[in-house]
Amino acid sequence: MRVGVLTGGRDCPGLNAVIRAIVRKGVQEYGYDFTGLRDGWLGAMEDDAVPLDIRAVRGILPRGGTVLGSSRTDPFKQEGGARRIKENLAAREIDGLIVIGGADTLGVAARLWAEHGVPCVGVPKTIDNDMFATDRTLGFDTAVNTATAAIDRLHTTAESHMRVLVVEVMGRNAGWIAIHSGLAGGANVILIPEQPFDLDQVCAWVTSRFRASYAPIVVVADGARPKDADLVLRHDAPGNAEPVPLSGVGEWLAREIEKRTGKEARTTVLGHLQRGGTPSPFDRWLATRFGLHAIDCVRDGDFGTMVALRGTDIVRVPIAEATARLKTVDPKLYEEVGVFFG
Ligand code: F6P
Repeated sequence: MRVGVLTGGRDCPGLNAVIRAIVRKGVQEYGYDFTGLRDGWLGAMEDDAVPLDIRAVRGILPRGGTVLGSSRTDPFKQEGGARRIKENLAAREIDGLIVIGGADTLGVAARLWAEHGVPCVGVPKTIDNDMFATDRTLGFDTAVNTATAAIDRLHTTAESHMRVLVVEVMGRNAGWIAIHSGLAGGANVILIPEQPFDLDQVCAWVTSRFRASYAPIVVVADGARPKDADLVLRHDAPGNAEPVPLSGVGEWLAREIEKRTGKEARTTVLGHLQRGGTPSPFDRWLATRFGLHAIDCVRDGDFGTMVALRGTDIVRVPIAEATARLKTVDPKLYEEVGVFFG
C-alpha cells in the first residue's frame, strides 16, 4: 500500500506532528510506503513529490510550519486540475491520500472524492478553530497560548503608563482566539466578528476601567467590525466569495478610542506570530492522535472521511459535512464573558 500526504492552506503549529504520526504508524504497524506531495494541492497537480520515510520524519514533532510546504491552490479553479491529480496519483500507485488542511483544502478533498473517486482522508487544522464537526482544530491551542502570553505582558506596560492597549489577534470569520485568549488574559473588552461592535459602548467600557484605576486591555479579532456600516474600513472585493478581513482594525480602534476618550492608546498586532513556532503540548497530542486515526481510515478504506475530536474521543465524520459550514462563537458564550467587560 502506498499513501500520499499533503498539507494545504494557511499553515499552523502541529502539521509536522501529524505527518510524523501518520508515517510512524503506517511504516511500523502496517508496512506502508509514503509519498509527500509538496505545497498542498499544487504538488498533487504538478506531481511535485518527495519520499517520506521514518528518517524524513525524525525530529519534526516539535517543529512549527510544515516540512511539505503549503499553498492555497484550488485545483477546481485550474483547467483540468482535478483530472491531473487523479492521473498523477494513479501513476504513482497511491492508494490513499491524507489531506491536512482547513475548510478550503478539505472542501477540495470532499469534491475530489465525491466527483472523481480520489481516495482522500482529512485532518482538520486552522488556528481559527472555526471548522464545524470537530471540538478543536489543530493549531488553535498554540495560538491561544501565544496570544495569552502576549496579553499578560501587555498588562504591565499598559499599567505603567495608564494607557489603553489594543491587541489584534487572528480570526477572520470567528472569534475563538479572541474569546479564549481574552478571557484567559483578563481583557476588559473582547471584540469578535460574530458580534459587530458599538464604538460608543467600547469607549464606555474603556472609561469605566480607567475610573476603577486600571489600564484597559482591548482584544479585537482581525475580522471584527463596527456595527455602524459607515465605519467599516474595507468592503468585500467584488466577485470575491471570501470576506476580506478588515486590515488594521486594531490600529483604527486605538485611534478612535483616543479621539473619543482622550486617553492614550497603543496597538499590538500579533499577526503571524500566532501561526508560527513550536506547537503546544496539547496540539502535539491532538496532532499525533489525528495522525494515528487518519492512517487507520486509510487502512480501513474509509475514504471521504475526516478525523475529528469529540470530547476526548477521535471520531470519523464525512468531510463534506465537516466543511459545509463554519463553527462560530455562540452569542450565549459571548454574553457569558461579557461580565468582565468594562
Ligand atoms: O489561518 C487563518 C488566519 O489566521 C486568519 O485568521 C487570518 O485573517 C489569516 O490567517 C491571515 O493569513 P494570511 O496573511 O496568510 O493570508
